[in-house]
Amino acid sequence: MSTRKPFVAGNWKMNNFVADAVSLAEGLKALVSGVDTVDIAVCPTYTSLYAVGKVLAGSTIQLGAQDAYVKASGAYTGEISPQMLQDVGCTWTIIGHSERRHILGESDEFLNEKLRFALASGLKVMFCIGELLEERKGGTMEAVLERQTTKGLDGLSADVAAGVVIAYEPVWADQAEDAHIFVRGVVEKMFGKDCADRVRIQYGGSVKADNAAELIAREHIDGFLVGGAALKADSFAAIINACK
Ligand code: PGA
Repeated sequence: MSTRKPFVAGNWKMNNFVADAVSLAEGLKALVSGVDTVDIAVCPTYTSLYAVGKVLAGSTIQLGAQDAYVKASGAYTGEISPQMLQDVGCTWTIIGHSERRHILGESDEFLNEKLRFALASGLKVMFCIGELLEERKGGTMEAVLERQTTKGLDGLSADVAAGVVIAYEPVWADQAEDAHIFVRGVVEKMFGKDCADRVRIQYGGSVKADNAAELIAREHIDGFLVGGAALKADSFAAIINACK
C-alpha cells in the first residue's frame, strides 16, 4: 500500500437523471459517513451537479465535474467553465478522459490548456491518460503514456503538478502497476523526485468491489477512478472501504 492518501472517485459518465443522481448520492453518503482515511469524490453529469452538491454539503464526499472548458465565460455555446462548476460546489474536475480524447477528439495540447485553466481557476484535477488496445499491442504503450503525461502536464510547477491526480485507464489489469511505475518515472523526469513521490495515480480499469483490495495493496496504485461500479452506492462504498 502506498503512503499517499487513497483517492477514490466515481465517474458517473452520461448516466442518471437528477432524481437518480440525488438518491445515489444520498445512499453513498449514508454508507461512507465515517470514512476519513480515503479521499472520496463523485462526478455526476452537469445537469445533476447542483442537486448532488446540495446532498453532499457537509459530508466528506467531494463534488467533481467530468470536464471543464478553457474560458471563464463568453460566447462558447454548450461549454461550462471552472468558475461555473465552483459556483455549484465542485472542487474537482476530470480532464482528458479517454472518451473525450477518442470520441470527442480532444488533443494533448487542448487538454493541457484545459488542465492549466482549471488549476489556475482553483479547481483540482484528475487528469486521465491511457493507451488504446492497438497501441498496447503495437508496443507503443510507454511512448503514448509518456507523450500524454509530458504534454498534459507541460508548463506546471512541481508543486502544482504534485497536486494533480493522474488517472491511468489501462487495457490489461494485470499490468496496471507497471504502467503506474512508468508514469511516476515520467513525472520524476519532468518535476523531480519529491513531486513524483507526492503525486497520486489512480487506476481506472473497470475496478470492482472484488478486485479493489488487491489493487490498492500495490505500492504505486493510489486509488481509483470508477465508472460502472460507481453507479450503485453499495458497490462504490465497498471499493472505498477496501482502501481504508
Ligand atoms: P469503468 O470506467 O470503471 O466502467 O471501466 C472507468 C472510467 O472510464 O472512468
